[in-house]
Amino acid sequence: MTMLSGKEIVLGVTGGIAAYKACEIVRALRKDGAGVRVILTASGARFITPLTLQTLSKNPVFTDLFDLITESEIGHISLAQRANLLLIAPATANILGKIRGGIADDLLSTVVMATSAPVLLAPAMNSQMYASPAVRENVEVLLERGFTFVDPDEGELACGTVGPGRLADTEKIVEMARILLTEKILAGKRVVVGAGPTAEDIDPVRYLTNRSSGKMGFAMAVAARRFGADVTLVAGPTRLPDPLFMKTIRVRSAEEMLGAVGTAAEAADAVVMAAAVADFRPESAAPLKIKKETFDRRISLVPTEDILSSLGRSRGSRVLVGFAAETNDLEGNAVEKMRRKNLDAIVANDVSRTDIGFGSDSNEVRVYFSDGTALDLAMAAKDAIASAVWRAVCRKFLPG
Ligand code: CTP
Repeated sequence: MTMLSGKEIVLGVTGGIAAYKACEIVRALRKDGAGVRVILTASGARFITPLTLQTLSKNPVFTDLFDLITESEIGHISLAQRANLLLIAPATANILGKIRGGIADDLLSTVVMATSAPVLLAPAMNSQMYASPAVRENVEVLLERGFTFVDPDEGELACGTVGPGRLADTEKIVEMARILLTEKILAGKRVVVGAGPTAEDIDPVRYLTNRSSGKMGFAMAVAARRFGADVTLVAGPTRLPDPLFMKTIRVRSAEEMLGAVGTAAEAADAVVMAAAVADFRPESAAPLKIKKETFDRRISLVPTEDILSSLGRSRGSRVLVGFAAETNDLEGNAVEKMRRKNLDAIVANDVSRTDIGFGSDSNEVRVYFSDGTALDLAMAAKDAIASAVWRAVCRKFLPG
């Protein structure tokens, strides 16, 4: 199962140079499991051919409101009604103006008016046009009416100028489509996720760390965002890029993670610690590189503060979820940690297995809850595991 399986997306492509990027968007949506039907406006068809989009979408491309053949097969009203999402990318200044003004003079503008599905607009145009009072006002009004925008990126534009106006990256547009198509079980909730390893410095070039890739924690943050939460991700050193549409705070040491998670947790409804926080750090980090001749081969370690335990001591109504990476006695160790740290749930995985866990894109876990129940989640992609963990946590601790 991919995120967009079973979803029907109508993609409107209007007439701007970025129309060629619609090809990439169609492919990305289909790869994620969505069915895609493209509506190409007359000016869009000056930039890209219906045949290209038809081949990529594997569906006929709609161009004309009064096309007798396509209208008899699937009318414009049913096209509007069967869509789970209407995405317009690129959206020109012209289509924004038409939607705002209630003009329905071609198939795309008519379908926008006739659909009850969420509408996602990804504008692309020259920076001057994007900054013009007419476009600014149209965007404001459409936002108030409940349309969603993926703002254009800044960069070099086809017309030679530099500024905002370039169609947002495909991944940004597709991620916003996923967000709009996921049920909002965490709407209005604030979530903090700690992810990745920590690094404890010995000197300016050496440090102690562990094998956490951060993937499971990042997946928990992304899933919470898709479910509608306001997410703060606190990430130790990982190679992963900042996830989209959330606040990411980069930290290095256990102490920095404690500070960042602690501050963010004050206003949070749920805190998930998927991070592999160092349990010990060198007593002091040498200010200069230690030379091997002077190194006495012993590093004196002191314990770090346990972040979850400190949150567990003054928890209020906040939901606390931990992770337990174990190599043996999974249940015994995980349940003992949940009790000791005063958690609502703990996600246990067996890191002695090479097919799951560290660095892998898949995982297989068992979630233990404070009420004595447990949930097995069979091997699946980490984002699917993350969604299932959130569903269970919401059902038990954050209903409606
Ligand atoms: N954790 C934490 N702060 C720490 C250490 C761990 O918040 N200083 C959190 C982890 O993010 C995880 C949970 O506690 O959610 C369990 O981490 P783990 O390292 O397995 O537990 P420890 O208590 O450190 O036990 P041990 O290392 O002995 O297995």
